Parts: sequence; C-alpha cells; structure tokens
Amino acid sequence: MLGRSFIRRGSSWSAAVEAAARLVTPAAILKDPISLVSHEMSQLANNIGQLIGSGHPTLNRISAYYFESQGKKIRPLIVLLLSRALSEIPLEQRDRIKIDTLDIPEQPVYEGTKSLTALFAEQVKDPVGPLSPLKILHGINPNVILDPLTKPHESLPEFDSKRGILPKQRRLAEIVEMIHTASLLHDDVIDNSDSRRNRPTGNIAFNNKMAVLAGDFLLGRASVSISRLRNPEVIELLSTSIANLVEGEFMQLKNTVLQPNEDMIEDDTKEIPKPTGVIDTTIHEYSVKLPEGETITHEQNVQAAFEYYIHKTYLKTAALLSKSCRSAAILSGARDDVIENCYQFGRNVGLCFQMIDDVLDYTQTSQQLGKPGMADLKLGLATAPILFAWKENPELGKLISRKFKNPGDVEYAVEQVHKYKGLEKTKELADHHCQLALNNLRSALPESDSRSALEFLTNAIVTRSK
Ligand code: FPP
Ligand code: MG
Repeated sequence: MLGRSFIRRGSSWSAAVEAAARLVTPAAILKDPISLVSHEMSQLANNIGQLIGSGHPTLNRISAYYFESQGKKIRPLIVLLLSRALSEIPLEQRDRIKIDTLDIPEQPVYEGTKSLTALFAEQVKDPVGPLSPLKILHGINPNVILDPLTKPHESLPEFDSKRGILPKQRRLAEIVEMIHTASLLHDDVIDNSDSRRNRPTGNIAFNNKMAVLAGDFLLGRASVSISRLRNPEVIELLSTSIANLVEGEFMQLKNTVLQPNEDMIEDDTKEIPKPTGVIDTTIHEYSVKLPEGETITHEQNVQAAFEYYIHKTYLKTAALLSKSCRSAAILSGARDDVIENCYQFGRNVGLCFQMIDDVLDYTQTSQQLGKPGMADLKLGLATAPILFAWKENPELGKLISRKFKNPGDVEYAVEQVHKYKGLEKTKELADHHCQLALNNLRSALPESDSRSALEFLTNAIVTRSK
C-alpha cells in the first residue's frame, strides 16, 4: 500500500514524497497525508478479496496474487481522497443529479434528500444486491452443496460520516484497483515481463494462460460491482475505461504514425486478413493532413507522433483515472463544472504519472523499480524522451520505425536522449500537466485537508523515483 511505503524511511518514494510535501502542504497533512483515508486503504485489499472469491482454488490464488504485494495503489488513493474532498462541498451546491439515497439511508449530512427514500424503499433494503435472480447468476441452484462459482454478492463498505466518503465511492476505489490489476496481469503477458513489485509476475509464477484468464475474471467481477453501483452514467464511464485500456495497448503495439502499413504486424513480417467490408471499421486518423502536392515536413511528422503518444497515454493510463475521478464526482451529486474539473484532474494526473513512468524507465534500475528497467526501447516503444530527441535529430526516425531492433540501436537511442535532454523535457511536460491538475483541484473543490493531500500527492507524482 502506498501509505506504508510512503512513510518507510529511506525509500526513494518516501524521499520524493517528503520533498513534494514541503512544496504545498500544511503541517498537519505533512505528517501523514494518507492518514486521511488510511482506514479505507487498509481495508481495500480485504474488501477486494470479498469480491473475487470463486469456487476454483487456483483461480483464487492467481486472482489474489497481485493484491498481496505492496503496489502504489495510487488510483484508489486518489479516488478516496477526492471523494472525501468532494464531501466538503455543501449539499445545496450538489444539485446536478439527485444524490442516491441508497448510498446513505440515514446520514444527517444527506437529510435534505429524504424525499427520495420512499422512491427507492425497495432497494434501500439491499442497495447493492444482485439485479438478477441468483439462480441465473450462478448458473446452478445456489442451494446445492457446491460452492457457487459466482458468489451471491457482498454488502457495501460502511459509510463513515466523519470522513464523508460514500459507500459507493469506496466500492468505486475497489473497482478501479481491480480493473488496473486485471490490466497488469495482461500487460505482463504482452510485455513478457518477469517481475512486478519485486515478485515474479503472474505469467511467471503461474503461466500465460492463467494470467490472461485471471485478468478476465477480475474484469468480470469488476463489471458485476460496477453494475451494482446502479448509476448508468458511472457504468458507461467505467466500461469505457476498460475499452480505453485495450485501445491504448493496441496503439502501443502498432504505431500507425510511423508504421503506416496497417496490413502488416510483427515487424512487418506477417500479413493480417484484409477487411471484408461486412463490418465497418472506422478509425481515428493521426496522420498529418497535407494540402495536395505537399510533402510532410519533419516538424509535422514529430507533431503527429506526439499527438499519437499523448492520446495513447491518455487511453493506456489516464482514462481509468480520469473516468473514475469523474465517477466519484457524479456519485457525490456535484454540479457539472465540478465533475468536469474532477475529470480533467484525473486526466492531467494520469498523463503526468505515465510521463514520469516513461522517464523512470530510462533512469532507474530494475531493482529500484521492482520491475524490469530500460524496458521501453527494448520493447520497441517510442515514448516522450526519444520523441524529444527525434525532434532535434531526424535520423532517429529510422530507428523508431524499425523499433530499435538493429544491433546498437538501443544504445544509440539512449545516448541521443541524453544529448538532447529528452528526460528533462519529458519532466517539464509532466510538470505542465501537474500544474494543470493542481488548477483543476482548486477550481473544483473548497479548501480542505483532503484537497491539500491531493495537491501533495499530485506533486509527489512528479518527484517520485519509483
Ligand atoms: C502498464 O504499462 C499497463 C497498462 C497501464 C495498461 C495495460 C492494458 C492492457 C494490457 C489492455 C488490457 C486491459 C484490461 C483491462 C484487461 P507498462 O508496460 O508501460 O508499465 P509496466 O512497466 O508497469 O509494465
Ligand atoms: Mg509492462
């Protein structure tokens, strides 16, 4: 959990966090900002455990595997702190949508919404219960002796009136961590990675097939919990964020700006089936549109590649965070402008987070990261540091196109990144998004400890070293 590694003396993350804390936070938060949600964070893994039990022992082992180790848990931490900060907005200013009384049947803070209770009286009895008969969900009679493969349902975490975090927002934090973990299980198969959080990856400790299936299973269970939040807008957002992760990963697999041949994969050695036209497959266009007769300039090419990189980064990393921040605001009943700022906050933090990840890939050792370092170039990925170098040295375009696969390509690319200050420029870009995120927070939320903690965390993302 981030909270623990956060205060662990001597760790690079805690040093970064302390440095960032000095920049923004008042003394009380500086002591331990995460303490504001430490209660919820300490229960997160256990609550997730309740949502992922199945009747199959090996499936249970691999589904729980990544939750057992100390990840940063940055996504649920942000969702919880944001939810707490949103609870500081007076109720009369939260009138965009009706607050769902299912969340908090009898909390004084929500007294104003009592009239809705009758409307939902039936569901209040079981606010996150299944929507379909258990017999259908299980596929077997739930009363038989076998453990049902799909458990009935788990009740929502309790509402903590002091902290103001709604039960559904706590469930949202759990859902977000489940989706993220599912994507990591898949990502480690795709990247053929052997370590994560200083342990063997799921594909190594188990195998590829089980890692893929466990990721699918987590997504399935996350989807059950999403639907039981009973908020169509949130269901739409979170489901889209799952699709976005896949779109981002595909953009990373196949860079259509620099490898425009869409009929070929596997370094242009394998031809894929041509579209039959039976299904219309429209795509986003990233190539630069040129007036007839003109050829593309180096600057235009670089600009298109940066646009591609930013959009890929949004889909791969920022979509889940931004859409879950938006969901937290929707669940709080906040007005449109607050919801929009929460969304933009998540987007900017997500972009910043991934850009720093892309820098750390160059600068940190595998041991420091707890996962393979210098992985991106070896995987053929052109992230911001090399794009900045390419801007200055057009020759690098050839290396990017061939995914650094010739002998000496990786070493030359690293040298050029340093020569043209690609890491510094990427950090500047990350810092730009950090500043935008801080502005979003200040526009959306009244001053509070939770908002300060979020500001502190946002700064810590830029200065982190793992
Ligand atoms: C880590 O990237 C991976 C992601 C942020 C998303 C991966 C998404 C998929 C595999 C698509 C499938 C999605 C779902 C929901 C099953 P990285 O390789 O840059 O980071 P790393 O160094 O931590 O591995
Ligand atoms: Mg990876």
